[in-house]
Amino acid sequence: MRKWNFSAGPAAIPEEVLLEAQNEMLEWQGSGMSVMEMSHRSEEYMTLADKARQDLIDLLEIPSNYQVLFLQGGATLQFSMMPMNFGSNKVTDYLLTGSWSKKAVNEAKNLTSVNIVASSEESNFNHVPNEGDWNCSSDAAYLHYVANETIQGNALHAPPASNAPLIADMSSVILSEPIDVSKFSMIYAGAQKNIGPAGLTICIIQDEFLDLASTELPGMLQYAKHADADSMFNTPPTFAWYLSGKVFAWLKGNGGLNSMGKINNLKARKLYDFIDGSNLYSNPVAIENRSIMNIPFLLANSDLDSIFLQESKSAGLLNLKGHRSVGGMRASVYNATPPEAIDALINFMGDFETKHG
Ligand SMILES: Cc1ncc(COP(=O)(O)O)c(C=O)c1O
Repeated sequence: MRKWNFSAGPAAIPEEVLLEAQNEMLEWQGSGMSVMEMSHRSEEYMTLADKARQDLIDLLEIPSNYQVLFLQGGATLQFSMMPMNFGSNKVTDYLLTGSWSKKAVNEAKNLTSVNIVASSEESNFNHVPNEGDWNCSSDAAYLHYVANETIQGNALHAPPASNAPLIADMSSVILSEPIDVSKFSMIYAGAQKNIGPAGLTICIIQDEFLDLASTELPGMLQYAKHADADSMFNTPPTFAWYLSGKVFAWLKGNGGLNSMGKINNLKARKLYDFIDGSNLYSNPVAIENRSIMNIPFLLANSDLDSIFLQESKSAGLLNLKGHRSVGGMRASVYNATPPEAIDALINFMGDFETKHG
């Protein structure tokens, strides 16, 4: 029996999508084979792949001067590909707001000259430093930030003003609400949260910025090669691309990102309001920087953590353990986690507080 899944990633996938995939598992639309057994260069697969790309373009309203790449290597490979392609022998600006931006910085340090424009590390990444206080370089090749820090649960809700080309890691926030893609030179995201299964990374790059990318790297590491080959420079992750296409179609059929944004904001507000009103639970993030996708919370008495996890699991609420680096709890509430799941979680948390608080 399926239960409410609050995993940070790989995360819940809409049940309708899983059922459709189940139906097509042995044979995809009269082709005599499953999608997994099909050449990525076959007419059938190319049609499916193009539709998925177009649906993503429609959902995010991606302007026509952007390339949409379906890559591998996770968001982690982007931490290196980005400075390799755009940052060698240059200064690059990084905002440091959590574990993922720190990983991006650490990879970039080997490949480019990194300037940290601002950091909230000294306060355990409990906020995003005020934009007015950032120390940006005058000649940075780009400014990188993580739009939503999955582990600490903080977010920068609007793209910052930047003279340098703006790059955002949107792994845990893409497709959760509308964004203005034209503000960015590049956006990237690992799929395994709001897009589909692990194994796929989406990269959206403005053509003018792509023209600046290195052409001296190994082919697999060049954005331009992937763009020229329509993301088929080598065999792409065909099943992940297919399933992500189904998620895009599901999103379109459910009102697109305006509708998702409204639902997600209501879901998050309900849970934050409950946490703020309780004596047992607390969320450490500055209110204006609270994530709508990853909601960490601490119990006033950490001795109760293991009982909370045991009892929540028995109540059908899965994967509430916070990341091992920060402890406590975390509810990740991506698109596929419906309002009913939030209600079930809040009911459980209320009962738990009555019993143990
Ligand atoms: C914001 C963010 N960036 C990067 C990553 C790393 O992604 P991957 O494991 O796909 O390399 C994650 C993974 O959870 C993430 O949440």
